[in-house]
Amino acid sequence: MLENRFSIVVGDITQSRAEAIVNAANTTLLGGSGVDGAIHAAAGPELLAECRTLGGCGTGQAKLTKGYRLPARYVLHTPGPIWRGGGHGEAALLASCYRSCLTLAAEHGIRSVDFSSISTGVYGYPVSLAAPVALGSIRDFLETHPLPERVRMVCHREEIAAVYRQAWERLAREHPADGAYC
Ligand code: AR6
Repeated sequence: MLENRFSIVVGDITQSRAEAIVNAANTTLLGGSGVDGAIHAAAGPELLAECRTLGGCGTGQAKLTKGYRLPARYVLHTPGPIWRGGGHGEAALLASCYRSCLTLAAEHGIRSVDFSSISTGVYGYPVSLAAPVALGSIRDFLETHPLPERVRMVCHREEIAAVYRQAWERLAREHPADGAYC
């Protein structure tokens, strides 16, 4: 049942104790501002050293590294789409970010994943439009895969979490079998 596997919380993802956290990266994977900067600062320079070996990452795809000094054992890095008005495939690319991270997590036997709100900061994707895409992608994956066992959206601020909760409730109304999140 999805209600036992998915939740929306407010917090700092660098403090997360999930087995893997998701970094809203850029295609170079060499760090930046926002959550990317916070994750690199908390993980230490070894994270950047490993990222340098990866050769970047395409938008909508994902790559896995260790978490180094983070509480999380792994970091899933995914470059989200830059918002260009919505007519440039942004929704498909954003859904792909979530699906790619979950696929990689499942392949590595990872049991818990905490997502940051990809593309909704520097990349300008409106949260109200990103939330249903993100949650639809997570729901579709969890409905068809046993791993990861637990997924959370970690929102930096309560206002962002409220938007995700509203979108989740709307999705649950459209798919009543999913039940409510907890
Ligand atoms: N914990 C959880 N969420 C956070 C944290 C944190 N510590 N810090 C920020 N957020 P952004 P993007 C939220 O800009 O839009 C970087 O330079 C933030 O409130 O980090 O995908 C990369 O290198 C927002 O809701 O990512 C790329 O160049 C969300 O994280 C570019 O920014 C995403 O905001 C990626 O932009």
